[in-house]
Amino acid sequence: MNETLKTILNRRSFRAYKPEQIKDEELQTILDAGSYAPSGGNTQPWHFTVIQKSDVLQKINATCREAMLKSGNKTFEERAKAENFSIFYHAPTLIVVSGDEKAITPQYDCALALGNMFLAAESIGVGSCWIHALSMLLNADAGKALSKELDIPEGYKVHGSGAFGYKTTEHPSPAPRKEGAVTIIK
Ligand SMILES: Cc1cc2nc3c(=O)[nH]c(=O)nc-3n(C[C@H](O)[C@H](O)[C@H](O)COP(=O)(O)O)c2cc1C
Repeated sequence: MNETLKTILNRRSFRAYKPEQIKDEELQTILDAGSYAPSGGNTQPWHFTVIQKSDVLQKINATCREAMLKSGNKTFEERAKAENFSIFYHAPTLIVVSGDEKAITPQYDCALALGNMFLAAESIGVGSCWIHALSMLLNADAGKALSKELDIPEGYKVHGSGAFGYKTTEHPSPAPRKEGAVTIIK
């Protein structure tokens, strides 16, 4: 099996990270991989907001926690009550991917960019995980001020976020693949 296929098959979501920051060259590799994703009409409609500053990360976590505690959703409330709560699992790097709402297919383009970033991260030994609640928050009224603070460009909507950092846990095995997910007509 070639290295590309090995990376695709080995990538897993990680939910615990070392506090140590990833190297700038590693961050650049991850961002480059994101920017080489395909996009509808080659619009490249994404903006990547990288957050590595600890007080900003703490503020994002606190805002998420508050929104989850007020959500009325029992699962969210229970999770947010945890003493060591971190919506991004204490990862030292967060990348928020927003897309130009005027583009043709920004949601798909941004998801593909994040997918490329996760694979690039895996290929250089950096762990990653999609963090969905953050996108929900940044697109909601409760996250408007935070979006402004993060300088999400005007007219852009957040379509995904990823946590990145060095792994602390063993590489988990993948969940079994569902059967019947393929139809081949030939
Ligand atoms: C759109 C999307 C949203 C996700 N949101 C979260 C999330 O908010 N928190 C989390 O821990 N994992 C999240 N994940 C990761 C999935 O749980 C994970 O990909 C899935 O369980 C398969 O595991 P694997 O990535 O290790 O193969 C998300 C994945 C996708 C594609």
